[in-house]
Amino acid sequence: MMIVYDSNLQQFSLQVGKASYVMALHKGSYLTTRYFGLRLHGDFLASPFVEVPRSFSPNPMADDERFSLDTLPQEYPVFGNSDFRLPALEVEFEDGSRLVDLHYDQHRIYEGKPKLHVLPSTYVEEEKQAQTLEIDLFDAVSQLRVTLRYTVFAGHSILVRSVLLHHEGDAPIRVSRVMSMAMDLSLPDYQMLHLPGAHAREREMTWQPIGKTMHSIESRRGASSHQQNPFLALASPTITEEDGEVYSVALAYSGNFQLVVDTDQYDVTRVMVGINPFDFRYLLSPGEKFETPEVTVGFHAHGLGEMSRDYHRFFRKHLLSGRYRDQLRPILINNWEATYFQFDEQVLLQLADEAKEVGIELFVLDDGWFGQRDDDRTSLGDWVVDTRKLPHGLGAFGEQIRQKNMRFGLWFEPEMISPDSALYRTHPDWCLFVPGRNQSVSRHQYVLDFSSKEVCDAIIEQLTKILSQAPIDYVKWDMNRHLTEVGSVSLAANRQKEVSHRYMLGVYRVMDTLTKRFPFILFESCSGGGGRFDPGLLAYMPQVWTSDNTDAIARLSIQFGTSLIYPAIAMGSHVSAVPNHQVGRVTTLQTRGYVAMMGNLGYELDLRRLGEEDRATIRQQIAFYQQWRDVICFGDLYRLKHPSKQQDAAFLYVSEKRDRAIVTYIQIMARANPALKRLRLQGLATNETYSVTLHGTEQTGVFALSPLTLVMNGDELMQYGLAIPYLHGDFLGCVWTIEKAEIAP
Ligand code: DGJ
Repeated sequence: MMIVYDSNLQQFSLQVGKASYVMALHKGSYLTTRYFGLRLHGDFLASPFVEVPRSFSPNPMADDERFSLDTLPQEYPVFGNSDFRLPALEVEFEDGSRLVDLHYDQHRIYEGKPKLHVLPSTYVEEEKQAQTLEIDLFDAVSQLRVTLRYTVFAGHSILVRSVLLHHEGDAPIRVSRVMSMAMDLSLPDYQMLHLPGAHAREREMTWQPIGKTMHSIESRRGASSHQQNPFLALASPTITEEDGEVYSVALAYSGNFQLVVDTDQYDVTRVMVGINPFDFRYLLSPGEKFETPEVTVGFHAHGLGEMSRDYHRFFRKHLLSGRYRDQLRPILINNWEATYFQFDEQVLLQLADEAKEVGIELFVLDDGWFGQRDDDRTSLGDWVVDTRKLPHGLGAFGEQIRQKNMRFGLWFEPEMISPDSALYRTHPDWCLFVPGRNQSVSRHQYVLDFSSKEVCDAIIEQLTKILSQAPIDYVKWDMNRHLTEVGSVSLAANRQKEVSHRYMLGVYRVMDTLTKRFPFILFESCSGGGGRFDPGLLAYMPQVWTSDNTDAIARLSIQFGTSLIYPAIAMGSHVSAVPNHQVGRVTTLQTRGYVAMMGNLGYELDLRRLGEEDRATIRQQIAFYQQWRDVICFGDLYRLKHPSKQQDAAFLYVSEKRDRAIVTYIQIMARANPALKRLRLQGLATNETYSVTLHGTEQTGVFALSPLTLVMNGDELMQYGLAIPYLHGDFLGCVWTIEKAEIAP
């Protein structure tokens, strides 16, 4: 049993893989967080919760001056009854009162995991893969039932939590804050790790002390955003990749979110995660239910590396969905950086021929194929092929690609509308706006009102038509602006603060419908690159375009940050032209290939302009990636050297069976007369013999190192390490492939 309840102790114990999560009912009624850490073999705690009288911490029970909610570590704190810390739930009743008093009512433990109705869910394929605990807390005065859900998964160290509100009373309630989880932990001297960024600079690993203040990591942009990511880790002071304790949370939601870390006067840290209460208020009618997004919660005793591997395995098994979950993804060519909007059928077919010749498997036609879109000022919403560019239509073009024995992919931006479009001229009220107010543009476009069922249905029909008419194997789903003037003419005045959340529900419904209707299509999500790289979108689309920044060196820190919880198979990474279009840097084709091979490899450059030598390099890269992509996409990641110090970076993938591995080393800045260093590997079998081959010496100015293939033991590779070759020049790299040696008997 992974979840047990002891009715004498009134404790719940959850075995979360290598960790234990223990909660207890205090005074038989208040649900408290008692322990979250390394697995306890006894399941329950013998130690009582110690209370002492505290001045200025009021007492809900007049005869017990030691008891205050202000000092109780709580699982779902509320406002107004003696806890002055930030609550997880805030509501307002018709009479103006805001008090809720939540007491334990009942609980259920069952096999399996429920799917959320309108939100992204983690899932199981067989009931025996998970167990769920539901604890009902009840407010007797308002008849509001708050169900806290906890699911643990066999073989995984990740707990999934969410909350269900059920209004059993008879007058409407306004809900202005309903977090997906809360927990109160003791985290002395811990530090926070989060992933702030910007467009083309996403997910920069950023550390700061927790201190004695409140931190709020949030998005108010209507998307999870480039600026923040709904992920947070809290790590012990001596944390490294291999050592130290880490708590992690990640919200499966792609809209406005908030992650709160708030340390109180007695050094207890409250962690709360959920929909951002900013500009949010939900009107809950009698009998109605409200589901929060799911949050994944982890405790990892062996450093950031273990945290990442726990998430990668979990997301690959219980979050990514559809037939591509377990399938290697095709190597693609995307015409965006090759042609931008300036292309016609002939140009595209030439590009496709070049791509086929080097071994590329999927041709993706990006922005500009529809309406009259010769730049980004027009036509979003008019999903009709532009016959000036593709005179024979989309179907015929797709067929020509397929005849080359390549798959065909197409770009859409379904949530958007250009003011200069037939759709806008017909339906000016289909976008988000507030009547009588100015309407801001961003990239010359408005946001469609996905909180409206009518709009979502129309988009589903438009896309269904195109996806059924042309031979489409892949869709890139873009979203290139954030939400402003957040108002919907489809909703009543008292529901306008529901728009941002309902927008996300609409997006999820459209994605759910289309991905189910077209299960053979591989969907890649994108939002100006990595503006919605979150677990919510991953539930529908199993890969994401990581960033619009395709520079190999800039990509190192973006991909390292992303890899904290997102697996390689979810990360789109392309080789592009030099000088790089975003930063102007020149790097070798070899280095660009090595960095792009950290995820799903693609190409995004005009192959027609390359000489034979570069084409030969690309041919080799593709053949090499085809041989190794299973290790990269399904293996375990070890980040050996972080690019943060701007000197070098190294990463290693090891296959599940530990019989194959691939190590990549990139030198960022060369130094004269450098110290010679070694890379100590991890994750291999100590007593195994491996054949180790160094690649990349041809083009990157590596000083001779021979032999290029060695037979080494796993423990030598992990204890002594690999000698890093002396690379003469900035931005150079090399790769080692490692395979279990076949020793002759
Ligand atoms: C932003 C995306 O991130 C790019 O890859 C490209 O698809 C453009 N949009 C097209 O407008």
